[in-house]
Amino acid sequence: MQTYRTNKNKVVSKVFDDVFEKYDIMNDLMSLGIHRLWKKTFINWLNPQKNSKLIDVASGTGDIAKLFLDKVDYKSSVCCVDENKDMLEISKKKLGKTTNVKWYCNNAENLPFKNNEFDYYTISFGIRNINNVNNALGEAFRVLKPGGRLLCLEFSKVKNEILNQFYKIYSKTIPKIGKLVVGKSEPYEYLIDSIEEFYSQKELLELIKKNNFTNLSYRNLSGGIVAIHSAWKI
Ligand SMILES: C[S@@+](CC[C@H](N)C(=O)[O-])C[C@H]1O[C@@H](n2cnc3c(N)ncnc32)[C@H](O)[C@@H]1O
Repeated sequence: MQTYRTNKNKVVSKVFDDVFEKYDIMNDLMSLGIHRLWKKTFINWLNPQKNSKLIDVASGTGDIAKLFLDKVDYKSSVCCVDENKDMLEISKKKLGKTTNVKWYCNNAENLPFKNNEFDYYTISFGIRNINNVNNALGEAFRVLKPGGRLLCLEFSKVKNEILNQFYKIYSKTIPKIGKLVVGKSEPYEYLIDSIEEFYSQKELLELIKKNNFTNLSYRNLSGGIVAIHSAWKI
């Protein structure tokens, strides 16, 4: 994983080029379906209002956009942003019939939107992959309206030592599942490494704070395997 550390941008692109076709099925297999519950909890905490505008960054295959639109009875709009066009294509197929979604192939660090455009900014299992997280958070703040909210779902740090030991043993099987299902173990070695190297709950909270957000809080799910961070642009 030396390449990951020295050239994160290229490695992240290659990871999603390698896995996009099997991304959804691998998510179900690796998390035993639990990622669906995490994402539902995420949208429930967002509690979006009708006639609002969401930007979902690192939108992947469109899970968050779909849950958001279901929650507001399709009476709102979503801009899905992802730098990988193959992931966006799958999202388009999944959400294609609705006119409430637009797709943008862009980097989270340089969003193609005006200041103060969105009521909500979401990022789910995306922030860990971004080269400069600080730049992406700056962009999140810029594109949100005053009164807008950022919600971030990401792998985090498990506090309980026994759960952590189980989690570490389980993590070692993930590249093997990847090899069986996708035919490659490297993208999943990247996944495990990137989770280990990513910020703790408190470190991420501090970084969000540094980018002028207020009313910050976070919730651990599944003992901290993942965490949801919430913050507002006031
Ligand atoms: C693990 S997937 C998450 C997809 C989806 N949000 C979900 O929760 O299932 C991460 C996504 O982030 C995208 N991504 C990684 N770095 C990015 C960046 N700097 N800007 C925009 N998208 C990025 C990848 O292309 C990939 O689709």
